Amino acid sequence: ASTLRDGAAAAGRYFGTAVAAGPLSNESQYITVLDREFNSVTAENAMKWDATEPSAGSFSYGSADALVTHAQAHGQQVRGHTLVWHNQTPSWVQNLAAADLRTAMQNHIANVVGHFKGKIYAWDVVNEIFDDNGGFRSSFWSQKLGQTFVADAFTAARAADPAAKLYINDYNVEGVNSKSTAMYNLVRTLKSQGVPIDGVGLQAHLIVGQVPSDLQQNIQRFADLGVDVALTELDIRMQTPSDSTKLANQRTDYNRVTTACLAVTRCVGITVWGFTDKYSWVPDVFSGQGAALPYNENYQAKPAYTGMLDAL
Ligand code: XIL
Repeated sequence: ASTLRDGAAAAGRYFGTAVAAGPLSNESQYITVLDREFNSVTAENAMKWDATEPSAGSFSYGSADALVTHAQAHGQQVRGHTLVWHNQTPSWVQNLAAADLRTAMQNHIANVVGHFKGKIYAWDVVNEIFDDNGGFRSSFWSQKLGQTFVADAFTAARAADPAAKLYINDYNVEGVNSKSTAMYNLVRTLKSQGVPIDGVGLQAHLIVGQVPSDLQQNIQRFADLGVDVALTELDIRMQTPSDSTKLANQRTDYNRVTTACLAVTRCVGITVWGFTDKYSWVPDVFSGQGAALPYNENYQAKPAYTGMLDAL
């Protein structure tokens, strides 16, 4: 194949990217690569709570609608991200008392999922609900509602769009470790309780030279629970500046991740968290690190791109 989307499609998968609203609205080079290489998109921020319901009961979908319209015109499916998270959620939500918080969550899901009904391939229903030790994350959600909000969120999402695949999504769950095992155990429990969960998202914010050796095995154990698995936010960062050695190692790492997904039938697709180093969350959050994506700031394909294409 000569593009990521064609290679993925030939393997019965998709290749996706997070999309930033700004360049989607006004940067032709960005749009050219986006539409040539990817057949799935995720809104980097436009579907989060602070964007879609900034004040109680007042919904705004401008940037998200623009993304969905663009995707439909270019043969791209859409992953919805995300409904229930402890970040990028307005303070009016965080300040609610328990009973009102539960109602607000259900109302938010009904509105947002309902607005996009029939247009979303999969929703990240809950995001980052575990801590790195395998415990349940302490957040305003869990502090007020315990763990019950998780099942309630999936139930509300299924009611609002029965065709959308419903995912649990998290980071540092790519290898077999206490956090991914906590996720595994919760998915198994939810399924046994009849909670409508269809998929597991492994964010895959990785570091060059540190791709877990048991990534494929971990994907497989989730698949064996009877759910789909997706790599939802892949990037592989390095200490900047980059050099040819680091870029070559990054190529190997992107190749290994792609190969691991393709080796598991129920690993349905890979989404990179942006495609150009011009627009990446990494340098803003991980000091001194960057160059995490398959294209450089000038939209030239890096070795990482070839590493993925070679695996398809
Ligand atoms: C990040 C976006 O990339 C940034 O633009 C934003 O400022 C913060 O959120 N895990 C997630 C994503 O699930 O939503 C986050 O996206 C990155 C970490």
